[in-house]
Amino acid sequence: MVSGESWESEGRTRRFSNFRIAEHLALIVLFFSLAVTGLCQKFHYLGVSQFVIGALGGIDSARSLHHMAGVLFTALLLQHAVASFLGVLMFRWKPSMLIALRDAQDAVADVRYYLGIEERPAPQGRFSYKEKFIYWLTFLGGLQMIATGLTLWFPVDAARYMPGQFIAAAKDMHSSDAMLLFLIVVVWHIYDSVLNPEVFPLDKSIFTGFQDPRAEGRGEPLTPPAVKKEGAKPVDGMDAL
Ligand code: HEM
Repeated sequence: MVSGESWESEGRTRRFSNFRIAEHLALIVLFFSLAVTGLCQKFHYLGVSQFVIGALGGIDSARSLHHMAGVLFTALLLQHAVASFLGVLMFRWKPSMLIALRDAQDAVADVRYYLGIEERPAPQGRFSYKEKFIYWLTFLGGLQMIATGLTLWFPVDAARYMPGQFIAAAKDMHSSDAMLLFLIVVVWHIYDSVLNPEVFPLDKSIFTGFQDPRAEGRGEPLTPPAVKKEGAKPVDGMDAL
Protein backbone atom coordinates (compact mmCIF):
# COMPACT_ATOMS: atom_id res chain seq x y z
CA MET A 1 0.00 0.00 0.00
CA VAL A 2 1.21 3.49 -0.71
CA SER A 3 1.68 6.35 1.70
CA GLY A 4 -0.29 8.87 -0.31
CA GLU A 5 1.78 12.04 0.37
CA SER A 6 2.21 12.53 -3.36
CA TRP A 7 -0.09 11.85 -6.29
CA GLU A 8 2.78 10.71 -8.48
CA SER A 9 5.51 8.18 -7.74
CA GLU A 10 8.09 6.82 -10.16
CA GLY A 11 6.05 8.17 -13.05
CA ARG A 12 2.91 6.34 -11.98
CA THR A 13 -0.47 8.06 -11.76
CA ARG A 14 -2.33 7.98 -8.47
CA ARG A 15 -5.90 6.77 -8.95
CA PHE A 16 -7.32 5.95 -5.51
CA SER A 17 -6.62 7.47 -2.09
CA ASN A 18 -5.75 5.25 0.89
CA PHE A 19 -9.22 5.91 2.26
CA ARG A 20 -10.85 4.49 -0.90
CA ILE A 21 -8.48 1.50 -0.84
CA ALA A 22 -9.51 0.73 2.75
CA GLU A 23 -13.18 1.27 1.89
CA HIS A 24 -12.98 -1.22 -0.99
CA LEU A 25 -11.19 -3.81 1.19
CA ALA A 26 -13.91 -3.44 3.82
CA LEU A 27 -16.55 -3.88 1.10
CA ILE A 28 -14.91 -7.10 -0.15
CA VAL A 29 -14.72 -8.58 3.36
CA LEU A 30 -18.27 -7.57 4.33
CA PHE A 31 -19.90 -8.51 1.02
CA PHE A 32 -18.39 -12.00 1.03
CA SER A 33 -19.12 -12.47 4.75
CA LEU A 34 -22.77 -11.58 4.09
CA ALA A 35 -22.91 -13.82 1.02
CA VAL A 36 -21.41 -16.83 2.84
CA THR A 37 -23.45 -16.45 6.05
CA GLY A 38 -26.63 -15.66 4.07
CA LEU A 39 -26.37 -18.18 1.26
CA CYS A 40 -25.66 -21.06 3.64
CA GLN A 41 -29.06 -20.27 5.23
CA LYS A 42 -30.81 -20.05 1.87
CA PHE A 43 -29.33 -23.37 0.68
CA HIS A 44 -29.30 -24.99 4.13
CA TYR A 45 -30.07 -28.45 2.68
CA LEU A 46 -26.76 -28.63 0.75
CA GLY A 47 -23.78 -30.49 2.25
CA VAL A 48 -21.50 -27.49 1.74
CA SER A 49 -23.94 -25.24 3.63
CA GLN A 50 -24.09 -27.73 6.51
CA PHE A 51 -20.30 -27.69 6.60
CA VAL A 52 -20.15 -23.85 6.63
CA ILE A 53 -22.86 -23.57 9.30
CA GLY A 54 -21.03 -26.18 11.43
CA ALA A 55 -17.71 -24.34 10.96
CA LEU A 56 -19.35 -21.07 12.04
CA GLY A 57 -20.59 -22.67 15.26
CA GLY A 58 -24.17 -23.53 14.31
CA ILE A 59 -27.14 -21.74 12.78
CA ASP A 60 -27.58 -19.20 15.60
CA SER A 61 -23.99 -18.16 15.32
CA ALA A 62 -24.20 -17.96 11.49
CA ARG A 63 -27.26 -15.71 11.81
CA SER A 64 -25.57 -13.49 14.41
CA LEU A 65 -22.51 -13.14 12.19
CA HIS A 66 -24.81 -12.21 9.28
CA HIS A 67 -26.50 -9.56 11.41
CA MET A 68 -23.18 -8.13 12.62
CA ALA A 69 -21.81 -7.98 9.07
CA GLY A 70 -25.12 -6.39 8.01
CA VAL A 71 -24.72 -3.59 10.57
CA LEU A 72 -21.13 -2.91 9.43
CA PHE A 73 -22.19 -3.04 5.78
CA THR A 74 -24.94 -0.50 6.51
CA ALA A 75 -22.42 1.81 8.23
CA LEU A 76 -19.99 1.49 5.30
CA LEU A 77 -22.66 2.32 2.72
CA LEU A 78 -24.05 5.24 4.72
CA GLN A 79 -20.64 6.85 5.30
CA HIS A 80 -19.87 6.45 1.59
CA ALA A 81 -23.14 8.12 0.60
CA VAL A 82 -22.74 11.00 3.07
CA ALA A 83 -19.01 11.60 2.31
CA SER A 84 -19.58 11.48 -1.46
CA PHE A 85 -22.64 13.74 -1.28
CA LEU A 86 -20.83 16.32 0.87
CA GLY A 87 -17.66 16.11 -1.26
CA VAL A 88 -19.64 16.91 -4.39
CA LEU A 89 -21.80 19.53 -2.65
CA MET A 90 -18.72 21.36 -1.37
CA PHE A 91 -17.15 21.28 -4.88
CA ARG A 92 -14.27 19.15 -3.63
CA TRP A 93 -14.93 16.44 -6.21
CA LYS A 94 -16.72 16.27 -9.50
CA PRO A 95 -19.60 13.77 -9.56
CA SER A 96 -17.70 11.57 -12.00
CA MET A 97 -19.68 8.46 -11.03
CA LEU A 98 -22.92 9.94 -12.37
CA ILE A 99 -24.25 8.21 -15.49
CA ALA A 100 -24.07 10.40 -18.61
CA LEU A 101 -25.10 10.11 -22.26
CA ARG A 102 -21.46 9.43 -23.04
CA ASP A 103 -21.67 6.11 -21.16
CA ALA A 104 -24.36 4.85 -23.53
CA GLN A 105 -22.28 6.04 -26.50
CA ASP A 106 -19.19 4.27 -25.10
CA ALA A 107 -21.18 1.06 -24.60
CA VAL A 108 -22.36 1.14 -28.23
CA ALA A 109 -18.80 1.92 -29.41
CA ASP A 110 -17.47 -1.06 -27.43
CA VAL A 111 -20.10 -3.40 -28.90
CA ARG A 112 -19.02 -2.21 -32.36
CA TYR A 113 -15.39 -2.88 -31.39
CA TYR A 114 -16.18 -6.39 -30.13
CA LEU A 115 -18.06 -7.08 -33.39
CA GLY A 116 -14.96 -6.02 -35.34
CA ILE A 117 -16.61 -2.89 -36.82
CA GLU A 118 -14.37 -0.42 -34.92
CA GLU A 119 -10.60 -0.73 -34.64
CA ARG A 120 -10.30 0.54 -31.08
CA PRO A 121 -12.45 0.23 -27.97
CA ALA A 122 -14.17 3.38 -26.66
CA PRO A 123 -11.73 5.83 -25.04
CA GLN A 124 -12.42 5.92 -21.34
CA GLY A 125 -12.99 8.76 -18.92
CA ARG A 126 -12.03 8.50 -15.28
CA PHE A 127 -14.62 5.79 -14.76
CA SER A 128 -15.87 3.65 -17.63
CA TYR A 129 -19.53 2.77 -18.16
CA LYS A 130 -18.73 -0.76 -16.94
CA GLU A 131 -17.30 0.57 -13.68
CA LYS A 132 -20.28 2.86 -13.21
CA PHE A 133 -22.64 -0.07 -13.80
CA ILE A 134 -21.07 -2.23 -11.09
CA TYR A 135 -20.79 0.80 -8.75
CA TRP A 136 -24.49 1.69 -8.98
CA LEU A 137 -25.54 -1.94 -8.88
CA THR A 138 -23.61 -2.47 -5.65
CA PHE A 139 -24.80 0.82 -4.16
CA LEU A 140 -28.51 0.54 -5.02
CA GLY A 141 -28.54 -3.25 -4.55
CA GLY A 142 -26.84 -2.69 -1.18
CA LEU A 143 -29.51 -0.18 -0.11
CA GLN A 144 -32.21 -2.65 -1.07
CA MET A 145 -30.48 -5.45 0.89
CA ILE A 146 -30.25 -3.18 3.93
CA ALA A 147 -33.94 -2.17 3.76
CA THR A 148 -35.18 -5.74 3.30
CA GLY A 149 -32.62 -7.14 5.80
CA LEU A 150 -33.78 -4.72 8.51
CA THR A 151 -37.41 -5.61 7.74
CA LEU A 152 -36.61 -9.31 8.25
CA TRP A 153 -34.63 -8.59 11.39
CA PHE A 154 -37.35 -6.46 13.01
CA PRO A 155 -40.60 -7.77 11.48
CA VAL A 156 -42.80 -6.67 14.39
CA ASP A 157 -41.57 -3.07 14.20
CA ALA A 158 -41.79 -3.15 10.39
CA ALA A 159 -45.43 -4.33 10.58
CA ARG A 160 -46.32 -1.10 12.39
CA TYR A 161 -45.43 0.91 9.31
CA MET A 162 -46.30 -1.40 6.39
CA PRO A 163 -48.82 -4.11 5.48
CA GLY A 164 -47.82 -7.65 6.43
CA GLN A 165 -47.45 -8.70 2.80
CA PHE A 166 -44.44 -6.40 2.53
CA ILE A 167 -42.58 -8.53 5.06
CA ALA A 168 -43.13 -11.68 3.00
CA ALA A 169 -42.09 -9.70 -0.09
CA ALA A 170 -38.98 -8.44 1.74
CA LYS A 171 -38.00 -12.04 2.43
CA ASP A 172 -38.31 -12.98 -1.26
CA MET A 173 -36.48 -9.84 -2.39
CA HIS A 174 -33.65 -10.26 0.10
CA SER A 175 -33.20 -13.91 -0.77
CA SER A 176 -33.42 -13.61 -4.59
CA ASP A 177 -31.46 -10.38 -4.86
CA ALA A 178 -28.69 -11.86 -2.73
CA MET A 179 -28.25 -14.51 -5.43
CA LEU A 180 -28.47 -11.92 -8.21
CA LEU A 181 -25.98 -9.53 -6.59
CA PHE A 182 -23.58 -12.34 -5.76
CA LEU A 183 -23.63 -13.75 -9.30
CA ILE A 184 -23.27 -10.34 -10.95
CA VAL A 185 -20.35 -9.41 -8.71
CA VAL A 186 -18.64 -12.76 -9.25
CA VAL A 187 -19.30 -13.08 -12.99
CA TRP A 188 -19.12 -9.44 -14.11
CA HIS A 189 -16.79 -7.70 -11.66
CA ILE A 190 -14.33 -10.56 -11.22
CA TYR A 191 -14.22 -11.02 -15.00
CA ASP A 192 -13.62 -7.32 -15.56
CA SER A 193 -10.92 -6.84 -12.95
CA VAL A 194 -9.25 -10.27 -13.02
CA LEU A 195 -9.95 -12.42 -16.09
CA ASN A 196 -10.35 -9.70 -18.74
CA PRO A 197 -7.33 -10.07 -21.09
CA GLU A 198 -6.77 -6.29 -20.89
CA VAL A 199 -5.99 -6.48 -17.15
CA PHE A 200 -5.16 -10.18 -16.53
CA PRO A 201 -3.97 -11.47 -14.04
CA LEU A 202 -5.34 -8.57 -11.93
CA ASP A 203 -6.07 -4.86 -12.18
CA LYS A 204 -4.28 -3.94 -8.96
CA SER A 205 -5.15 -0.21 -8.97
CA ILE A 206 -7.75 -0.44 -6.19
CA PHE A 207 -5.18 -2.23 -3.97
CA THR A 208 -2.05 -0.20 -4.79
CA GLY A 209 -3.80 3.13 -5.39
CA PHE A 210 -1.93 3.61 -8.66
CA GLN A 211 -3.22 3.46 -12.21
CA ASP A 212 -2.51 0.15 -13.96
CA PRO A 213 0.16 1.12 -16.57
CA ARG A 214 -1.65 -0.98 -19.19
CA ALA A 215 -4.71 1.28 -18.90
CA GLU A 216 -2.64 4.44 -19.48
CA GLY A 217 -2.29 3.65 -23.16
CA ARG A 218 -5.97 2.96 -23.68
CA GLY A 219 -7.64 6.03 -25.12
CA GLU A 220 -7.59 9.26 -23.11
CA PRO A 221 -5.90 9.18 -19.70
CA LEU A 222 -8.05 8.23 -16.76
CA THR A 223 -6.57 10.94 -14.59
CA PRO A 224 -6.24 14.50 -15.88
CA PRO A 225 -2.65 15.73 -16.36
CA ALA A 226 -2.95 18.11 -13.40
CA VAL A 227 -3.16 15.14 -11.05
CA LYS A 228 0.12 13.79 -12.31
CA LYS A 229 2.09 16.79 -11.05
CA GLU A 230 4.08 16.25 -7.90
CA GLY A 231 1.97 17.04 -4.86
CA ALA A 232 -1.11 17.92 -6.92
CA LYS A 233 -4.46 17.00 -5.44
CA PRO A 234 -6.76 14.86 -7.55
CA VAL A 235 -9.47 16.98 -9.06
CA ASP A 236 -11.79 14.64 -10.84
CA GLY A 237 -13.62 11.93 -9.00
CA MET A 238 -15.60 10.97 -5.94
CA ASP A 239 -12.80 8.58 -5.01
CA ALA A 240 -10.38 11.40 -4.42
CA LEU A 241 -10.77 11.68 -0.67
C1 HEM B 1 -25.11 -7.79 0.09
C2 HEM B 1 -25.59 -8.01 1.27
C3 HEM B 1 -26.38 -9.20 1.74
C4 HEM B 1 -26.49 -10.47 1.23
C5 HEM B 1 -25.79 -11.03 -0.01
C6 HEM B 1 -27.42 -11.19 2.08
C7 HEM B 1 -27.83 -12.50 1.89
C8 HEM B 1 -28.81 -13.14 2.63
C9 HEM B 1 -29.37 -14.42 2.33
C10 HEM B 1 -29.01 -15.28 1.13
C11 HEM B 1 -30.26 -14.73 3.30
C12 HEM B 1 -31.09 -16.02 3.42
C13 HEM B 1 -32.43 -15.80 2.79
C14 HEM B 1 -33.25 -17.07 2.76
O1 HEM B 1 -33.29 -17.77 3.77
O2 HEM B 1 -33.86 -17.34 1.69
C15 HEM B 1 -30.29 -13.62 4.23
C16 HEM B 1 -31.09 -13.54 5.35
C17 HEM B 1 -31.14 -12.49 6.21
N1 HEM B 1 -30.40 -11.32 6.12
FE1 HEM B 1 -29.11 -10.85 4.63
N2 HEM B 1 -27.82 -10.36 3.08
C18 HEM B 1 -27.21 -9.14 2.91
C19 HEM B 1 -27.36 -8.03 3.70
C20 HEM B 1 -28.08 -7.98 4.86
C21 HEM B 1 -28.18 -6.82 5.71
C22 HEM B 1 -27.50 -5.48 5.41
C23 HEM B 1 -28.96 -7.16 6.77
C24 HEM B 1 -29.40 -6.37 7.96
C25 HEM B 1 -28.99 -5.19 8.27
C26 HEM B 1 -29.38 -8.54 6.58
C27 HEM B 1 -30.21 -9.26 7.42
C28 HEM B 1 -30.73 -10.50 7.17
C29 HEM B 1 -31.72 -11.17 7.98
C30 HEM B 1 -32.35 -10.61 9.25
C31 HEM B 1 -31.98 -12.40 7.38
C32 HEM B 1 -33.01 -13.47 7.83
C33 HEM B 1 -32.34 -14.62 8.44
C34 HEM B 1 -31.82 -14.27 9.79
O3 HEM B 1 -32.59 -13.89 10.69
O4 HEM B 1 -30.60 -14.36 9.97
N3 HEM B 1 -28.81 -9.01 5.42
N4 HEM B 1 -29.40 -12.68 3.80
